[in-house]
Amino acid sequence: MKIIDGKTISADIKKEIAAEVAGFIDRGRRAPHMAAILVGHDGASETYVASKEKNCVSVGMTSSVYRYEENISEKELLEVISFLNQDEDVDGFIVQLPLPKHMDVDKVMAAINPEKDIDGFHPSNLGRLVMGEDTFVPATPCGIMELIKRSGIETVGKECVVLGRSNIVGTPMALLLSRNNPGANATVTLCHSKTRDLAAVTRRADILVAAIGKPGFVTADMVKEGAVVIDVGIHRVADEKASSGYRLCGDVDYAGVSAKCSAITPVPGGVGPMTIAALLMNTLKAYKKRFPEG
Ligand code: GUN
Repeated sequence: MKIIDGKTISADIKKEIAAEVAGFIDRGRRAPHMAAILVGHDGASETYVASKEKNCVSVGMTSSVYRYEENISEKELLEVISFLNQDEDVDGFIVQLPLPKHMDVDKVMAAINPEKDIDGFHPSNLGRLVMGEDTFVPATPCGIMELIKRSGIETVGKECVVLGRSNIVGTPMALLLSRNNPGANATVTLCHSKTRDLAAVTRRADILVAAIGKPGFVTADMVKEGAVVIDVGIHRVADEKASSGYRLCGDVDYAGVSAKCSAITPVPGGVGPMTIAALLMNTLKAYKKRFPEG
């Protein structure tokens, strides 16, 4: 059984990005800049945004975070977005989700300049993805496709089952895997809460992508012998033995499933670091589109 090492693969990608950024700076250009808008004090969101900032700096990019209290109005948030849309020094930005309940997320996403939408959540970018056009692919599915490619996992003609139909992960993942592209061309089934006899469907998968948001949901009986398992979940579960009082686990019951599959992504150290690497890839792409060379 192979452990798909997202940490090492993401480090390789970051080295490649850092070399490209250093080249731009050597040629007298400014560094690419990523901004993040963070509303409220959700613990997981704070961690993600801090990690994005740290990783930007590690590849020679610059970053900024716009922090607001939970009670910021939607109108004020839209004004911040409008400011970042026009700021010449910002190449791409994200609005960290989830947003407070009084916000209309679709309206907020639609306000982002699609050319700076490095999360790929703007409807025109999601539309371009459906059309198979060049776009910003949402970071988690983009990172997973890169992980599959760089781990040498064969996808052509394979049965892929994606568990979860979110706009952020499941839906773009299913689109990407089914495309007529090298590194895709799979037969894809997208499962959700109304799927009948879920285990019978997931057992067909040569490649199973679990993005259901429930800790340990995928058990060994749901997995075919020799399948490749990609675990998108990341949850804190109470653990008396851990000094922090919790441990991280994914959507997959790792102990049971790893004994049966041919390859699996660990949590942490699988999909998580690839998501950050993909966001850096998208930031570099936004920068290069804004300032094409020669
Ligand atoms: N919250 C959880 N995942 C994501 C993501 O990929 N982008 C943003 N903006 N927020 C998130």
